[in-house]
Amino acid sequence: MNDFAFPSNFLWGTATSAHQVEGNNINSDNWILEHLPGTIYAEPSGDACDHYHRYPSDVALLAEIGFNAYRFSIEWARIEPEEGEFSYASLEHYRRMLAACHEHRITPMVTFHHFTSPRWLLRLGGWLDKRTPERFARYCERATQHLGDLISLACTINEVNIASLLSRLLPSDVHNQVWWKTAALAFGVSTDRLGTFLFATEPRAREIIMAAHRRAFEAIHAGPVNIPVGLTIALQDIQQAEGGESIAAGYRREVADWYLEQVREDDFVGVQNYGRIIFGPHGRIQPGENVEKNQMGDEFYPEGLEGAIRHAAQVTGVPIYVTENGLASTHDEQRLVYVQRALRGVAHCLESGIDVRGYFYWSAFDNFEWSNGYLPQFGLIAVDRTTQQRTVKPSAYWLGTLARANKLQIE
Ligand code: BGC
Repeated sequence: MNDFAFPSNFLWGTATSAHQVEGNNINSDNWILEHLPGTIYAEPSGDACDHYHRYPSDVALLAEIGFNAYRFSIEWARIEPEEGEFSYASLEHYRRMLAACHEHRITPMVTFHHFTSPRWLLRLGGWLDKRTPERFARYCERATQHLGDLISLACTINEVNIASLLSRLLPSDVHNQVWWKTAALAFGVSTDRLGTFLFATEPRAREIIMAAHRRAFEAIHAGPVNIPVGLTIALQDIQQAEGGESIAAGYRREVADWYLEQVREDDFVGVQNYGRIIFGPHGRIQPGENVEKNQMGDEFYPEGLEGAIRHAAQVTGVPIYVTENGLASTHDEQRLVYVQRALRGVAHCLESGIDVRGYFYWSAFDNFEWSNGYLPQFGLIAVDRTTQQRTVKPSAYWLGTLARANKLQIE
């Protein structure tokens, strides 16, 4: 074992998204989806972690633990609650939040879209409508004009490939379920025009999403200051057992490389990894019963991060931030081991010359985990949802101490 020193300007952070922590994001499409009769959401997001009001003490706490960066998202549905109506108050809210980061020497990485969209966008066809890139760029431009001088790094869209991925991983076709018809009615569109970001699986959606990214890239670069801009991608470590080569290659092409090949001119790419997927001659090989699992029953495989980083670096050639990596677990010791092993992978990548610039653990808090509600616990900080009291877990202190030392023991 010896000490590996991370680059001196390496960013150590945690990540959240607005809808999952702020609470009462009532103008978003997700809020509607969570409240539909027959919804697939286990429970509504409600007050979430009330981060909207508690960010001053939350940001201070992250700094106190030892982090020097924070990735969070700004909410389109708050900034532009009706088409073309921009909320100065909401923009000022995010300005104060960014100022709080700087006050605590926390580098803010801002995501402009993290799964949720304004409900009005859904009425217009959402991520299936060809004018959405233009609408998204207008919001990005407005937000950048107001906030840009305080933003250090910008992610346009979180997990551009999530719908492609989910459509291959979900057991049944969500589009044929009753709740999908109810949702279409709620937004006043036909089922084939229901363009929620997470479930926009039609082939044209990915073209629209990537066009939106490109337009947003330009809009954010237009000023007032020069901010490095990228997108983030859900990148499993895609592996093959004997005979699974061609299925793995096809999957890799569709869910990863189609996107990665389009970001070679970006300032960076955000890699988000939660494990691996293995293909055999007959398709996906599920992890065996005796394999260690996370809280959700997925394989515990921290080494997936290294594979994902190496692949992203090889295809894109641009600098990399690990914008998400983490474990849903009720056992905090398991999380600690996960992060330790994942970070060894990051160190190995750096040793082999890959330009990795930061690591953001998902997530700062136990928060609203989409359709699974509040059950999965990814957080470094536990939240009592009645009192909103925060309890810092040992893994947070461990990671914060490592962040301060900027060193890790590796083999
Ligand atoms: C998303 C997060 C989510 C996390 C854990 C990522 O796909 O960006 O919003 O909570 O994974 O499932």
